[in-house]
Amino acid sequence: MDEKVYFCTKFSFMQEMILILDFGSQVTQLIGRRLRELNVYCEIHPYNKIPVIGENVKGVILSGSPFSVRDEKAPFVDLSGIKGKLPLLGICYGAQFIAQHFGGEVKGSVAREYGRAQLHLLDLSSLMWLGVDDDSQVWMSHGDTITKLPENARAIACTDDVFFAAYKIDGEETYAVQFHPEVFHTEDGKQMLENFAIRICGCKGDWTPDSFIDNTVASLRQQLGDDKVILGLSGGVDSTVAAVLLNKAIGKNLTCIFVDNGLLRKNEFEDVLDSYKEMGLNVIGVHSGHLFLEKLKGVTDPEAKRKAIGSTFIDVFDAEAQKIEGARWLAQGTIYPDVIESVSVNGPSCKIKSHHNVGGLPEKMNLKIVEPLRSLFKDEVRRVGRALGIKRELIGRHPFPGPSLGIRILGEVTEEKLRILRDADDIFIKGLRNWPCELPSASYPNEMADNLYDSIWQAGTILLPVKSVGVMGDERSYEYTIALRAVISTDGMTADWVHLPYEFMAKVSNDIINKVRGVNRVCYDISSKPPATIEWE
Ligand code: XMP
Repeated sequence: MDEKVYFCTKFSFMQEMILILDFGSQVTQLIGRRLRELNVYCEIHPYNKIPVIGENVKGVILSGSPFSVRDEKAPFVDLSGIKGKLPLLGICYGAQFIAQHFGGEVKGSVAREYGRAQLHLLDLSSLMWLGVDDDSQVWMSHGDTITKLPENARAIACTDDVFFAAYKIDGEETYAVQFHPEVFHTEDGKQMLENFAIRICGCKGDWTPDSFIDNTVASLRQQLGDDKVILGLSGGVDSTVAAVLLNKAIGKNLTCIFVDNGLLRKNEFEDVLDSYKEMGLNVIGVHSGHLFLEKLKGVTDPEAKRKAIGSTFIDVFDAEAQKIEGARWLAQGTIYPDVIESVSVNGPSCKIKSHHNVGGLPEKMNLKIVEPLRSLFKDEVRRVGRALGIKRELIGRHPFPGPSLGIRILGEVTEEKLRILRDADDIFIKGLRNWPCELPSASYPNEMADNLYDSIWQAGTILLPVKSVGVMGDERSYEYTIALRAVISTDGMTADWVHLPYEFMAKVSNDIINKVRGVNRVCYDISSKPPATIEWE
């Protein structure tokens, strides 16, 4: 069996959890997010790839779907091992699926039931409605409607337009709702999911960063024994947290490799390397900037630059790894959204940019893969990092692309352009860190930000391949333009530009033009994603 799956499943057997079967809805991930916020561990699996259901599975949720249960090709799942044996909650398509296959009836409704509705509770004693207000708002989004309930079922809530908005099957813990409790617009949705997970399934809600660390360290020790492991550090949150967890589990058997690709930000390699050493990690720093710059000479196409950087990284990393005798595993900082994306019902989304910098590395090295963060969302990785005692500057670092400044210098990369971009970037990022603000933190959504930097999801500077005329003192200048970029986002899939304070932008622009030789103009990028992307290349 594939090692990646093995690790995840083995871990799952130790932790009580809710299994979410995904029929392809856009908001399935939100069901997972909500449960995790309740400290309930859950896993999302495609409806057609159900894992073995162990004793740790306390309940099952069926998600919504873009399909209609009446479609010929409607997703089908065999519930014989689940329904009546474990608590089950059908949401939207899930509710209609249970109705359709267990003696009820689903028909296309004349009007699409879409948007806000008021939920009238019919059975106030139902565990599902504990702490839920009568007439609270719910979010509907379906074209079909249930016209006849399945056998032994009774309605437990309705709306003005939908008579069977929620039902329960008597004699078993099967519940179904035609609205979406996972979305923000369903006012008491989180309470309903809590009722299902904690009260009906009996989960303890003990999925905390500390419990994750204890369980993961124990299972890594068991899985890795005395084997040697190699891990590529990038300075980013995910690889750092993965390294500290592995270090806790296997200590010196972990060797970390941190490659200076010559495209990092000002002083970044030295600063981050020092932090790693302070944390007690067994880390090797490899200076190989010259190799990368050599490979980038004359290359201007963004994808060709990415490929050149990616393949050079693989060569450098592989050469270093060869020196570590007896290494059997390659550790990676893969996180849950990557996992869901790659096994989702719809398959991986189409490629816009090739983000996987190290694709091909595991095959080349012939090592087994270990991914201790495969079950975590990004904010959970940060909470685990904090519980591990990693300092906030590292945990709260903005995402930074693997190809580094190489894709923020549009066109060919040269030493001179790198110097300009590094200096400008340093002024912008330090400026953000020194500017106070009263906004929520981007890395810890329930806390206030320490400064402007901390309130932003990602910021950086881009060197445009454009020279323009300016005037410096009495002299005409003809120099480069720097673009500033700052966005808020939750996962990088969509992003909005940040409304930076004018006074801040004025100061940064002044500082860059006065202090960075070679720049006479600064612009601010006010495009959102989509249709723009976060990086310019
Ligand atoms: P885009 O530019 O596609 O970026 O909106 C979304 C997020 O991904 C990061 N990014 C990359 N990360 N290798 C990476 O490791 C890459 O080639 C790459 N390209 C973009 C980007 O910084 C943003 O966080």
